[in-house]
Amino acid sequence: MSNRRPLVAGNWKLNGSRAANTALISALRAGLPAQSRTDVVVCPPYVYLAEVSAAIHDSVIQLGAQNVAAEDSGAFTGEVAAGMLRDVGCGFVIIGHSERRACYGETDDLTAAKVAAALRCGLRPILCVGETLAERDAGDTLNVVRRQLEAVLAVTGAEAFSAGLVAYEPVWAIGTGRTATPMQAQEVHAEIRATLARRDATIAAAVRVLYGGSVKASNAKDLFAMADIDGGLIGGASLDAAGFLGICKAAAESY
Ligand code: PGA
Repeated sequence: MSNRRPLVAGNWKLNGSRAANTALISALRAGLPAQSRTDVVVCPPYVYLAEVSAAIHDSVIQLGAQNVAAEDSGAFTGEVAAGMLRDVGCGFVIIGHSERRACYGETDDLTAAKVAAALRCGLRPILCVGETLAERDAGDTLNVVRRQLEAVLAVTGAEAFSAGLVAYEPVWAIGTGRTATPMQAQEVHAEIRATLARRDATIAAAVRVLYGGSVKASNAKDLFAMADIDGGLIGGASLDAAGFLGICKAAAESY
């Protein structure tokens, strides 16, 4: 429970089709209250952004992308720039997801450059941080998360987080069905806020820190009840309208 308005973002990853997206958005539109007490964001694959943008028109649902180029334009085949994402209606972009880091070799430095690119175009970055199981077992969790955060702070300063958000996603909890306990998550969320507070206490107090990793309607309430957990970044459960709506309801009730 906090005085920060919660945010629930659905990270669709490499899933969806025009037909499935239409069905999912219409079920979300029907199930979300007109005056939602939580921000709700969906993040489809790039090719569907424009169509989903039209489908969520005049609803409480907002749009985000799953990745962005570090460059603004030019000879970068296959990339999509922050300005283009704004142009098709995105307000948010997920940056530094552990799948980008692990599968595509994205470094802390590239992640920081992408955050800077998003901010240049008025996109709100959702910066993902989190440790692997080996790092947790080695007692390195807080060091890893601080390092990932500091790499961005060194480039953008704390101001990045007056618009941006942080998502704590322990790698061992993503898509595994194994969720961090509310206490485990809270410990890291508090450290994320403390790391930001060393730069700017006002921004740190206001920034929303999301939890991600096997969040479901059944475990969301206990996670969102923690002092420094301000919503969730939802993968698998965001593809199921009833499940995602249940998570949004839990977030709204935590506020
Ligand atoms: P999950 O994914 O909810 O399927 O664990 C979360 C994420 O990767 O953002």
